[in-house]
Amino acid sequence: MREKMRTLKRIFDNNRAWATGIREREPDFFRELSRQQSPEYLWIGCADSRVPATQLTGLAPGEMFVHRNVANLVVHTDLNCLSVMQYAVDVLRVRHVIVCGHYGCGGVQAALAGSRLGLIDNWLRHVQDVMEKYAQALARADGEGARLDLLCELNVREQVANVCRTTVVQGAWERGQELSVHGWVYGLADGLLRDLGLCVNCPEDLAARL
Ligand code: CO
Repeated sequence: MREKMRTLKRIFDNNRAWATGIREREPDFFRELSRQQSPEYLWIGCADSRVPATQLTGLAPGEMFVHRNVANLVVHTDLNCLSVMQYAVDVLRVRHVIVCGHYGCGGVQAALAGSRLGLIDNWLRHVQDVMEKYAQALARADGEGARLDLLCELNVREQVANVCRTTVVQGAWERGQELSVHGWVYGLADGLLRDLGLCVNCPEDLAARL
């Protein structure tokens, strides 16, 4: 109990120091930000604690709208993710949607191994669908590590396609709203982002690249 209290105190101490530091550099920062947000990016990433979206991109509060779930999935019936996307695209008018997976993803690994972890198995079933779709390519991968890396990449690819097929993104493109969808993978071992080269700007890109 005492250990837990100390840990939480650390969070509040950190927070005070963080807010003070920002106010010292920019006295009006929080006041201005409290009036409105106009982020340019929507990040859809994994809930993994080692993939902190704003920290690893060096973006400040107000610059990126974020949705995270286990294995960075975009499921067509997930009202949570769809609502985030709709608000980000229609109301905040973000210019870029980024689906960012990461190597060594525990969710993807569990899906690959067919692990029984409980309720989450049903969520990870979506990753297993990706696995079955690309069974041949995955079978050619050289070893377990390479297979996991490849499935992490293929999963991002499928989620980029899912983003592009939503009514939200289709509607934005029909209206002529500029909106690009990107697929990236983050390396836990080196802290670096890789672009999978899937940048989709219109329905024609979707047909050509995915
Ligand atoms: Co993960």
